[in-house]
Amino acid sequence: MVKKAVIPAAGFGTRFLPATKSQPKEMLPIVDTPTIQYVVQEAIDAGITDILLIIGRGKRALEEYFSKNYELEDQLREKQKQKELELINFLPDNVAVHFIWQHEQNGLGDAVKYARHHVGDEPFAVLLGDTVLESFTDKPVIRHLIDVYNRYEEGVFALEEVAPELVSRYGVIDGEDLGEGIFRIQDMVEKPSLEEAPSNLVVASRYVLPPEIFTALEVVEPGKGGEIQLTDALRLLMKDQPMYGYRIDGIRHDMGDKLEFLKTNIHFGLKHDDLADRLKAYLKDLVKEF
Ligand code: G1P
Repeated sequence: MVKKAVIPAAGFGTRFLPATKSQPKEMLPIVDTPTIQYVVQEAIDAGITDILLIIGRGKRALEEYFSKNYELEDQLREKQKQKELELINFLPDNVAVHFIWQHEQNGLGDAVKYARHHVGDEPFAVLLGDTVLESFTDKPVIRHLIDVYNRYEEGVFALEEVAPELVSRYGVIDGEDLGEGIFRIQDMVEKPSLEEAPSNLVVASRYVLPPEIFTALEVVEPGKGGEIQLTDALRLLMKDQPMYGYRIDGIRHDMGDKLEFLKTNIHFGLKHDDLADRLKAYLKDLVKEF
């Protein structure tokens, strides 16, 4: 049973400065809801009850967001603002959110390594805190990965096909297509050049991993950018255990990217009950000018 999730949210968000100078990129809103809330909700919808956020400098707002604000609650109660009260009390009683501080930025693999004691000897989910995955099926993407994990009892991560010129931004895999969106991974490389990339299937921000990944993370050498890369640790672990990929049926919204941020807000705005009609009318007017 996968009951724990780790959400790395320690990155500086340099692609989104100056907004991220004093505010976590994971708090950037999609319409009115911070990105991190979508990520946490994805885990909760998949049956996860224990969530650990790996945070760092400038990320205190994340801790505050998941702790109670009694003063605000009292005020909303007094003013009988029931709807707003529900909006700020979004965590179910059976779900716990914890935090660990990463001392210095040293890559995604290093951030995940901090979860070792909290996770212990069980499989766990990893969800990147700046990326929302909108599923086209009735299950969240991380639930699909948990199902694949349960089927093979081996690690699995989300895959997405990207345009060849974009592969150098991602972990890229070489794998055998087993059908039903499942791949058996043969090799993987972090942020290769277009020439070195084994395919255009890339690692897409969600993983379900066995606890042995922590041993691999302890011994793996620094990789791309001189940092500890999760991709390299997975590659190391693959020598001992098979690893699977699952091609997502949905859309990945990378909120650390400026254009993606704008597109995602329009995308979700067009689905928003109160805003959709007015936003559509505005956009229609706007495009006439181009
Ligand atoms: C990380 C991983 C990379 C993965 C990407 C998107 O890179 O290292 O393998 O493809 O997330 O999930 P980052 O975006 O943190 O540079």
